[in-house]
Amino acid sequence: MNPDVAFPIWSQDRAQRVGAVLERCMPRGDEPPQSLHQAMRYAVLDGGKRVRALLAYAAGEVSGSDPCIVDGPAAAVELIHAYSLIHDDLPCMDDDALRRGKPSCHVAFGEATALLAGDALQAFAFEVLAGANLRDPRAQLPLLARAAGSRGMAGGQALDLANTGTMLRLSELETMHRLKTGALIQAAVRLGADCGRSMGADDNDALDRYASAIGLAFQVVDDVLDVEGTAQSLGKTAGKDAAQRKSTYVSLLGPSAARERAQVLREEARAALGRFGTAARRLGEIADWLTTRSH
Ligand code: IPE
Ligand code: IPE
Ligand code: MG
Ligand code: MG
Ligand code: MG
Repeated sequence: MNPDVAFPIWSQDRAQRVGAVLERCMPRGDEPPQSLHQAMRYAVLDGGKRVRALLAYAAGEVSGSDPCIVDGPAAAVELIHAYSLIHDDLPCMDDDALRRGKPSCHVAFGEATALLAGDALQAFAFEVLAGANLRDPRAQLPLLARAAGSRGMAGGQALDLANTGTMLRLSELETMHRLKTGALIQAAVRLGADCGRSMGADDNDALDRYASAIGLAFQVVDDVLDVEGTAQSLGKTAGKDAAQRKSTYVSLLGPSAARERAQVLREEARAALGRFGTAARRLGEIADWLTTRSH
């Protein structure tokens, strides 16, 4: 592919690429236990924006990596993400019946199978990452584990549930968002960058600053879209946060200040990329896309 293609073409190419990697590596739906494997495939394949995979590929460009080296990490972060969405939609969590424009996994396959599909996808993510061509598996495997675990996504989800019905302070809300959504986004960037040449501490710090800003901005925009979007445009139920009395950037700041916050974070993210020049073009474009998106 011509490296100068416009962002929509680049992102579509990389989204299709990780989709094909996932299709190839996932257990087939006719392999027993069929319903479990079908539920896993239902939740992973043919859907989603593939933001975390795109971030991994874009970060790989910064360190000069070939996309085929990034395939494993990109697939692994999407597998963790898909598992987190299955569990997020369960009746014991957000009780959401629509995901990626289809019935949620537990609606289609039943709660027990959905729970197990989430469990199995998390384990499978580590199988895929462990089988990838990693430079330093002893660093990269724990990096994903921390991002997914109680000090990352799962911890953030615990805070989200514990705080449902209470009005958080902005600093508490930010902590929750950084964990439940930011941590995996940060891991995607790090894992992608680690696929290329080894970078210095200053470069890694700059990528972390980018990822931290964009990770928070992503959930801020998700909160805005929950209010401003529709089930049709989002492919998931709109208005859930207010109905479930969740603290969000919109409930604390209102939608326009929340959007402004996302723009400030976009500037922060873009500023962190300055040192990389054109190698960070795709990361910059992703920052623009994620903070102006409508779904
Ligand atoms: C939704 O993530 C859940 C959040 C962390 C906000 P995405 O908006 O990336 O969901 P898909 O993968 O595109 O469906
Ligand atoms: C979910 O946040 C974050 C995850 C770790 C899955 P939300 O509950 O806001 O995600 P949506 O809006 O259901 O996609
Ligand atoms: Mg949730
Ligand atoms: Mg939810
Ligand atoms: Mg949401």
